[in-house]
Amino acid sequence: MPVSPSASQPASPSPVSLDAVHGALATVNDPEIRRPITELDMVRSVDVSDDGRVAVTVLLTVAGCPMRSQIISSVDEAVSRVAGVTGVDVTLDVMNDDQRAALKTKLRGGIAEREIPFARPDSLTRVYAVASGKGGVGKSSVTVNLAAALAQQGLKVGVVDADIYGFSVPRMLGVTTPPTQVDDMIMPPVVSDVKVISVGMFVPDNQPVVWRGPMLHRALQQFLADVYWGDLDVLLLDLPPGTGDVAISVAQLIPGAEILVVTTPQQAAAEVAERAGTIATQTRQRVAGVIENMSWLEQPDGSRLELFGSGGGRRVAESLSRVVGAEVPLLGQIPLDVRVREAGDVGEPVVLSAPESPAAVALSGIARGLGQRARGLAGRKLGLTPTGR
Ligand SMILES: Nc1ncnc2c1ncn2[C@@H]1O[C@H](COP(=O)(O)OP(=O)(O)OP(=O)(O)O)[C@@H](O)[C@H]1O
Ligand SMILES: [Mg+2]
Repeated sequence: MPVSPSASQPASPSPVSLDAVHGALATVNDPEIRRPITELDMVRSVDVSDDGRVAVTVLLTVAGCPMRSQIISSVDEAVSRVAGVTGVDVTLDVMNDDQRAALKTKLRGGIAEREIPFARPDSLTRVYAVASGKGGVGKSSVTVNLAAALAQQGLKVGVVDADIYGFSVPRMLGVTTPPTQVDDMIMPPVVSDVKVISVGMFVPDNQPVVWRGPMLHRALQQFLADVYWGDLDVLLLDLPPGTGDVAISVAQLIPGAEILVVTTPQQAAAEVAERAGTIATQTRQRVAGVIENMSWLEQPDGSRLELFGSGGGRRVAESLSRVVGAEVPLLGQIPLDVRVREAGDVGEPVVLSAPESPAAVALSGIARGLGQRARGLAGRKLGLTPTGR
């Protein structure tokens, strides 16, 4: 604790140069952020007493920081080397919310972070990330149809096209109006009562998006934080195929997002779908269920032609149940139907354009199941990870 008169008092000149102490502190890096503690505004006070003792108060970013002892010893070591120093007393304190916010802004290069409403522990919005191992199994078709069906049930629904390179949601939902900007908020277009945002609305003339991982993360963050979603019951994220950067970003940005795994009945597709679902155990996300798409093609005589084999969805659900140690249900089987494809091409989801078709009936059934568990915190993980800090 600073108990001695400050070095700034001219009456008793200290043998220790305050500048030299600051210079020494500038060599101490925060062990986690890896930048000098002086630059991070973590040094709250430095007091030098007449007898050469130096008292330094360091602000930690969080209480119970696991690096406490390392910071104390680094500060002690650096300041001890300054000429004239006879002893060092290091006191630790914790940043208040404002100081932490200022630090975050500084770390982001001056851009204040806007909060992702769905990541708040008290958010009532159910977030589903629609994922698959393989491409082309129908994630986007399932996403837009579930969204339209849920909206038709009266729920407030949003869709984020998180497939940044392969965006297809705007076409499938028939979005023709661009988003508008109000101050620093992006207002998403609304179609069939669904609020929707996609990178496709920001790139001219279907130009390809050539971004690296961090840009994808940033885009997703903006879609979630800068878009004005209002109070949603359900948010659906259409992921790119596989288990790449975007899936990890989603887990980081919305830890409470649940995974909907889409697969075809095919053996190979089922195997990779399993892998995609298993990632959830690493990201500690919940797998809400498995949706089997392209399950069969109904023949004119009413029989079912199982074009891609059978059993994939059931197998993935059983296997994921074992892996995650909780029941992962098979939420439904959607038959092949040319109207699904046609509806996607013209931008009117099949649940709206041909609601009586077997595929639409299956999709609406899945949406009803999801809609019933739409709101509330019961049984949900809060997205808090006990990291001991
Ligand atoms: N049940 C179905 N019946 C008929 N066609 C379907 C069905 N489901 C999807 N399709 C068609 O299959 C193609 C692939 O579907 P979709 O784009 O939804 O898959 P995806 O998993 O999102 O693909 P990607 O991995 O490229 O993002 C589309 O042309 C779509 O219209
Ligand atoms: Mg897709």
